[in-house]
Amino acid sequence: MDKIVINGGIPLKGSVTISGSKNAALPLMCASLLTRDEMTFHRVPGLRDVRTTKQLLLQLGAQLDDFTPGTLRIKARDIVEHTAPYELVKTMRASVMVLGPLMAREGRADVSLPGGCAIGARPIDQHLKGLEAMGASIELKNGYVIARASRLVGADFSFDLVTVTGTENLIMAASLAQGTTVLRNCAIEPEVVELAHVINRMGGRVEGAGTPTIIIEGTDRLSGIVHEVMPDRIEVGTYLLAGAITGGDVKAEGCVPQHITSLLDKLEEAGVTVEVGESSVRVISNGAIKSCDVTTDPYPGFATDFQAQYMALMAIGDSQCEITEKVFENRFMHVQELVRMGAEIRVSGKKARIEGVKKLSGAHVQATDLRASASLILAGLAAEGTTEIHRVYHLDRGYENIEEKVSQLGADIRREKDDMV
Ligand code: EPZ
Repeated sequence: MDKIVINGGIPLKGSVTISGSKNAALPLMCASLLTRDEMTFHRVPGLRDVRTTKQLLLQLGAQLDDFTPGTLRIKARDIVEHTAPYELVKTMRASVMVLGPLMAREGRADVSLPGGCAIGARPIDQHLKGLEAMGASIELKNGYVIARASRLVGADFSFDLVTVTGTENLIMAASLAQGTTVLRNCAIEPEVVELAHVINRMGGRVEGAGTPTIIIEGTDRLSGIVHEVMPDRIEVGTYLLAGAITGGDVKAEGCVPQHITSLLDKLEEAGVTVEVGESSVRVISNGAIKSCDVTTDPYPGFATDFQAQYMALMAIGDSQCEITEKVFENRFMHVQELVRMGAEIRVSGKKARIEGVKKLSGAHVQATDLRASASLILAGLAAEGTTEIHRVYHLDRGYENIEEKVSQLGADIRREKDDMV
C-alpha cells in the first residue's frame, strides 16, 4: 500500500488541467454494452474505478483497446457472461450499472448486491423497482440480483428518491426496451445529461435529461460512436478548494464552470475571489476564510462529493459554521481524521458543527473513502508540519495523478510505500 506525505503551509499557485469525469466515464463504459459496434472514448481518466470497470466489461465478453493513454475503445460484439461478480462489485458499487444494459440487450443479468460502503448503506432498491416496472423478474439470492425478462417493455416509473446511477441504469435499460418509458423524479446531474446525449448519438431517443422527467423511446439497436468524456466537475472543485485553503491562486483549465455554480457561490461567500472564464475558473485567496454554513443536495445544489473537502476549508474558518449532509447517512468519516490535525468539529446526526481554528497541524491520518481522502490532502496542504495520509488507494479511485498535479502548483507532496499498514 502507498501513503502520501505532505509538508504543508505552501500557498498553491498556477494552472491545473482537468481530467475526464469519473462519474461520466463509468456509466458511458457500461453503455457500450448496448451495441455490438465499437465505442471510442477520449479523455478517459486513468483511475482505479475505470480499471475495475474495464475488468468487468472484459469478463462479460467485451473487447477493449486502451493502448493510447486517455483513449478507450470498447466492442461488446458478443456478451459471453451475464454475471457481475461480488469481488468486483464490492470494490466498486457503480458496477451495478451493467444491470440496465444487460437486461436491455440480453434479458438476463446476475449482479452482486453491492453491499454497504464507508459512506452509507447505498441500497439499489430503486434500480430494481424500475426494472420490475419494465417487466423484469427480480429475485435476490445468495447476495445476488437475479434479473430476467423476455424483453423489457416501456413503463411509466417514478423514483421514490433522486438517484444518479438509478436514473442512469434505467435510461440504459429503456433505450432498447419495447415502447416508451417515462421516468419521473430523475437525477439531473450533468453526468446524466452526458449519458443521454451519448445514447442519442448512438441512435437512441432520450428526451428531457437534465429535468426531473425523462422520456425514452425504445429502439431495436444502437450504433457505436466516438465521444470525448466531459471534464470532472468534482476534480475541478477539489483543486479550487486546494487553492482556497492554502491562501493561493489556482486556475482550473478545461472545465465547465456552470457545473459547479453552487460551490463557486459558497467560495465567494467565504471571502475567496472567483474569476470565471469560458472553460476555466480561477480562485484567489489571502488565507482569510469566512465560516459559512452549507447543506448538501442533489444537483444543482451543493454536491455531497464536495462536502468533505469543504469541511477541511471550514476547519480554518474565522468563526463557526454547520455542515448538513442530506444525501448520504454516514459521510462524516473524515471528521475524526481532521480532528487529529487540530480541527474542532462535533457531529450530531446529519450535522457537523465546525469551530474554525487558526492553523491545522500535520499528523498521521487514514483515508476512509474517496472524498474523505481528498479532504485530508487539502488539510495536509494547509497544515503546519508534515501530514502522512495512509490507505491512499481510496484516493486513486477518483483522482488522476493528484500528487503530480498539486506539486506542479508548488506543493511539497510525495507518494511513498507505506510500511505502517
Ligand atoms: C452517484 O452515486 C455518484 N457515483 C456518487 O459519487 C455521488 O456521491 C452520488 O451519485 C450523489 O451525487 C457515481 O456516479 C458513480 P445515489 P449513486 O443513488 O448513484 C439512496 C464519488 O465520490 N439510494 O444518487 O450511488 C442512496 O443510499 C461518488 O464520486 C437508495 O436509497 O448515489 C443515497 O442516500 C460517491 N436507493 C441517495 O439515494 C437506491 O436505489 C443518493 O444516492 C439508490 C440510491
